[in-house]
Amino acid sequence: MKQLIDKLYETNNLSPEEYKELIDNRNPELAEYLLEKARAVRIENYGHDVYIRGLIEFTNHCRNDCYYCGIRKSNQNAERYRLTKEQILECCSAGYDLGFRTFVLQGGEDGYFTDDKIIDIIRSIKTSYPDCAVTLSMGEKSYEGYRAFFDAGADRYLLRHETADAEHYRKLHPESLSPDNRKQCLYNLKNIGYQVGCGFMVGSPFQTTECLVQDLLFIKELNPHMVGIGPFIPHHGTPFANKKAGTLELTLFLLGIIRLMLPDVLLPATTALGTIHPKGRELGILAGANVVMPNLSPVNVRHKYLLYDNKICTGDEAAECLCCMRNRMESVGYHVTVSRGDHKSIL
Ligand code: 5AD
Ligand code: FES
Repeated sequence: MKQLIDKLYETNNLSPEEYKELIDNRNPELAEYLLEKARAVRIENYGHDVYIRGLIEFTNHCRNDCYYCGIRKSNQNAERYRLTKEQILECCSAGYDLGFRTFVLQGGEDGYFTDDKIIDIIRSIKTSYPDCAVTLSMGEKSYEGYRAFFDAGADRYLLRHETADAEHYRKLHPESLSPDNRKQCLYNLKNIGYQVGCGFMVGSPFQTTECLVQDLLFIKELNPHMVGIGPFIPHHGTPFANKKAGTLELTLFLLGIIRLMLPDVLLPATTALGTIHPKGRELGILAGANVVMPNLSPVNVRHKYLLYDNKICTGDEAAECLCCMRNRMESVGYHVTVSRGDHKSIL
């Protein structure tokens, strides 16, 4: 099995059968070998720097009904909110003073925020903070919409593919959402010129090793700038309330594999990883991750943006959260940096 890891390290690639073999036969010793290599590759590419992104959760209204998600349309108990443009700009202002140079606008697919409203918000942020990157994470839009956001100044777009296996996709989503459209959106974003992030949940219900192999092959094919993965965590108000959460162990193993597949990819240690284990994000960094995304949302809405149960960082001010994150990263020998933190291919 170690030969497979050596091969992945040397060629950044394995066959579907080899990925499956590697995942199915993993054990603590193998994981240590993999993560050591992943760490080395990460340090070669990004040193001990950790990039920070200021996450602004600007709306939890959503037209979709994904079975896993706490802000799905059918969850009547979700307390819905929207931030105003002024509130969003206040988050940016506070974030800028703290050292954030990327703002991530994340929200549900909320019809209130028309393309024109989003364009206006992007323009305002880019006018006030021309040295900052704007990342969007607001789901599936038309090609024209994506194009217009890009023309307004948006730099990056996060759209997790959720699962690359079509059959699995249908088990996680209602009929109105299609796996093909999801993937098409990612190709559209790339084609327009965004730095693009895809990703998936680890241990989502009905996920098999074959699904994970499909995810890895899709990631290799798309060749994104960023990959966001984190464990699935059940939310009590969803159809998946009683499903098991994904594990720390498998998430770290997959982070390591992805780092070896795409040596210079931007790879976050996610909030979900920090939620299933008190040192999850630190361990994610030690498995090859190089990005963290502290929350910049106003404290009074944070407890409303609950995609899953027990989400961390919902009670802390942005400054506290950042300070906590700096300490966490220092505790494992890494340093939060003040920079846009672009992908290495962007100069
Ligand atoms: N557990 C973990 N991650 C989740 N997401 C949504 N619901 C959950 C959950 N219950 C992830 C999805 C989505 C991202 C914003 O959050 O992958 O793309
Ligand atoms: Fe957010 Fe610790 S990182 S409170």
